[in-house]
Amino acid sequence: MKTVQDYIRTIPDFPHAGIMFRDVTTLFADPRGFRMAIDQLLHPYAGQPIDRVVGLEARGFILGGAIAHQLSVGFVPIRKKGKLPARTIEQAYTLEYGEAVVEIHDDALQPGERVLMVDDLLATGGTAEAGIKLIERLGAQVVGCAFIIDLPELGGRAKLEGLGMDVHALCA
Ligand code: PRP
Ligand code: ADE
Repeated sequence: MKTVQDYIRTIPDFPHAGIMFRDVTTLFADPRGFRMAIDQLLHPYAGQPIDRVVGLEARGFILGGAIAHQLSVGFVPIRKKGKLPARTIEQAYTLEYGEAVVEIHDDALQPGERVLMVDDLLATGGTAEAGIKLIERLGAQVVGCAFIIDLPELGGRAKLEGLGMDVHALCA
C-alpha cells in the first residue's frame, strides 16, 4: 500500500537554486492520498478537545479546512500581510528563502480556546513560530502543530519543541 510520502514529489531548484521543493499538490490531487493525509494528521488528537483549527497560508488552508470540517469546529486563517480585510495583529519571520510578515484577525480567536495549528511543511520553523506567537497573543492555546512534512535538518522541530509545542509530522 502507498504511504503519504509516496504521493509527494520533489522539484529541484524551486523557487530558487538549491531549494528542493516538496510539492504536495500531487498528494492533494489523489483521493486516497488526501484522505490518508487528513486521517493521519488527526490521529494523535482523537478524543482531545479542540475548539479551532488554524491554517497557515497557503497549503495549510487546504489541510486546515478539511480537518476543521472533520472535527466540526471552525477554521481560522493566518495570512501573508495585506490579505485579511478586518483589523489584524502581525508578526514578522524569516523563511528558508526570504522574509515575510503574517497576520491574523484580532477577533478570530477567544482567550482560552484550544487550537490545532496545521501546515503542509515544517522547515526552519519560522512560519510556524510566527503563527504560534499570533495565536498566543490572542490568548488562545496551541495544543498541537501538525504538518505533512518535517525537514528536521532545518531545525523547525527543535525550535517548536523548544517552545514547548507538541509537533506531529507524517514524513520527512
Ligand atoms: C512554505 C510552507 C510553510 C513554510 C515552511 O510556505 O508551506 O508554510 O514555507 O517554512 P519555514 O518552516 O522555514 O517557515 P511558503 O512560505 O512557501 O508560502 P506559500 O504556502 O504561501 O507558498
Ligand atoms: N517551504 C520552505 N522550504 C520548503 C521546501 N523545501 N519545500 C516546500 N515548501 C517549503
